[in-house]
Amino acid sequence: MTDFLLVTDLDNTLVGDDEALAELNDYLSHHRQQFGTKIVYSTGRSQALYHQLTTEKTLLQPDFLILSVGTEIYLTHSDTPDPNWANALSQNWDRDLVVATAAHFADLTPQPDTEQRPFKVSYFLTETAAVEVLPQLEHLLQERGLDVQLIYSGSIDLDILPRRANKGMAMSFLRDYLEIAPDHTVACGDSGNDLSMFANRDERGIIVGNAMPELLHWHQLNPSPHRYLAKGHCAAGILEGLKYFGFL
Ligand code: GLC
Ligand code: MG
Repeated sequence: MTDFLLVTDLDNTLVGDDEALAELNDYLSHHRQQFGTKIVYSTGRSQALYHQLTTEKTLLQPDFLILSVGTEIYLTHSDTPDPNWANALSQNWDRDLVVATAAHFADLTPQPDTEQRPFKVSYFLTETAAVEVLPQLEHLLQERGLDVQLIYSGSIDLDILPRRANKGMAMSFLRDYLEIAPDHTVACGDSGNDLSMFANRDERGIIVGNAMPELLHWHQLNPSPHRYLAKGHCAAGILEGLKYFGFL
């Protein structure tokens, strides 16, 4: 047994089955104590919604936090996001123009204010409308010279982010910062905004058994020996995957 870097999504990945979560928490807190394993939560939630979740569920204190779909990295229990990461994302990012461009689409309903972040503009969009809206929106954003990416998750959430930010890139930033090798790093997720932690990566990946069709479909088309699709749901799937890769 050695230390590893665990980067896990929260909603419907770590969180979703309280009993399994308690069992996994037990394993992880022992492992952290004994081997210095690092626990990172990587979520689409803003700081406000993350804090709300910590009052509702029993979560271990993470070593680091990645919030708002990889656009904010919180190091060493700081309350302010890492300025270097923010700096890198601010290059070429014109938030106002992104919002003005999205306003052309009546099917895009803005998410609550807490989820609108400096480097993240978020909407609700139905699956039916998404088929037409996503390509048109992407085209218009490109036409206006905006270097952004669209991330559609759970058949409802649309995030528009700077091209250089997502959960995968935030994981790379932390891995470099901590100097941890890809084969000692494992990412866990269930939906579209987790895909960047799995695509073209040397890190180990665990997709929980209850994953959304968008992620399952992509996984089936792009299999990798470094990625494990668990049978168990939520925390039970993570535990199963960690044992599969020999981390636990
Ligand atoms: C979380 C965030 C939301 C985002 C979604 C998908 O639910 O609160 O803003 O759109 O994750 O990334
Ligand atoms: Mg999730």
